[in-house]
Amino acid sequence: MAILFKNIKELIQVRSEPISFVSGKAMSVLPTIKNAFLVVESDLIKDYGPMSSCPQDNFSEVIDATGKMILPAWCDSHTHIVYAGNREGEFVDRINGLSYEEIANRGGGILNSAKTLQDTSETDLYDQSKIRLEEIIRLGTGAVEIKSGYGLTETSELKMLRVIKQLKENHSIEIKATFLGAHALPKAYQGNKDGYLKMLIEDILPKISNEKLAEYIDVFCETGYFSVEDTELIMKAGKEHGLIPKIHVNQFTAIGGVQAGVNYKALSVDHLEEMRDEDIEVLRGTKTMPVALPGCSYFLSIPYTPARKIIDAGLPLALATDFNPGSAPSGNMNFVVSTACVKMKMTPEEAINAATINGAYAMGLENKVGSISKGKLANLILTKPLHSYGVIPYSFGSNQIDTVFIKGQNVCHKPINNK
Ligand code: NIG
Ligand code: FE
Repeated sequence: MAILFKNIKELIQVRSEPISFVSGKAMSVLPTIKNAFLVVESDLIKDYGPMSSCPQDNFSEVIDATGKMILPAWCDSHTHIVYAGNREGEFVDRINGLSYEEIANRGGGILNSAKTLQDTSETDLYDQSKIRLEEIIRLGTGAVEIKSGYGLTETSELKMLRVIKQLKENHSIEIKATFLGAHALPKAYQGNKDGYLKMLIEDILPKISNEKLAEYIDVFCETGYFSVEDTELIMKAGKEHGLIPKIHVNQFTAIGGVQAGVNYKALSVDHLEEMRDEDIEVLRGTKTMPVALPGCSYFLSIPYTPARKIIDAGLPLALATDFNPGSAPSGNMNFVVSTACVKMKMTPEEAINAATINGAYAMGLENKVGSISKGKLANLILTKPLHSYGVIPYSFGSNQIDTVFIKGQNVCHKPINNK
């Protein structure tokens, strides 16, 4: 079973040498091959090159991509797509003048989503989440991280993680799971944060580890949520159970979460809307990936992550959606890439690197996805006919995707014009 894509106008993000991520100036380099071919065998990228060396073998399928481009499917390293219901009411409250913080202080926000999720069965939660997962796949996402954090009780946190496990079993895209029990303090523990942290560490974590329900551990390190000290406690406990930290920091206030993440060798520190110079400095020379979530800044009208400062300091940057019911109810990576260019002044090359190879690294998947490389999974976006790849971010809100392939399979169920 081999597929040949021929006459590809431009094959984007071609990396013949393995790389883990790109940083600083290297982010502005996006290697491509013009007028290219690509061979996919079973679920992997087998070969690629210029049309002048296109193989003449017998292929089970030949797709003529004249005028179209191919790039690796997006790697969305930060989402909360397993949730129940929505928070459209709070959206209207914000339009009418309330802030995200005011809504949360009135018992809305994360606690609102937790209440709905606690009252939703595992089957129903699966069905609601599956719709979102399949939507993002059709929008070009080929690898995704999904967090718990709307359960806030043992039963409901485990319910969320089991739903993620089931999504993994039933879908061919790469999925990584993150335990975010420390997302907000539930009502039952008001005034007893230590008791809640103890419950997360002593009751839930061992079960997650026994059932292998998560690879990563997260904390909402933020004023009014969890302190740096709380964050360190949870990261330490997570590490003892084999979970690597990936944490929410500097969304509304800079309180030292980046430093804590670096000290605990977090794979990524995410949000970073509020960055002090020392928060940028401490990331230098580390293996911790900074992750920006421009969909959240857009939706909440908060500052955008200072991408230029981060990249110009020689650091890497990844882009993700943060798909969740409260601060970013969209999992559209095309919009994220576009918004990063428009609002964060990233070039199309930087944004595509950030949304592919750097996103893959932020999920520990850099050896499997995120670039066109031999032996990587054939998770691909075939675009509509395009003038240049810059049109993807330029034409914000338009869909430039013709077909998405996951492990070499067309997941759009759409016939391809194969003349
Ligand atoms: O990443 N900041 C913390 N968590 C989510 C939002 C949670 C919510 O509002 O439901 C985020 O923005
Ligand atoms: Fe988030």
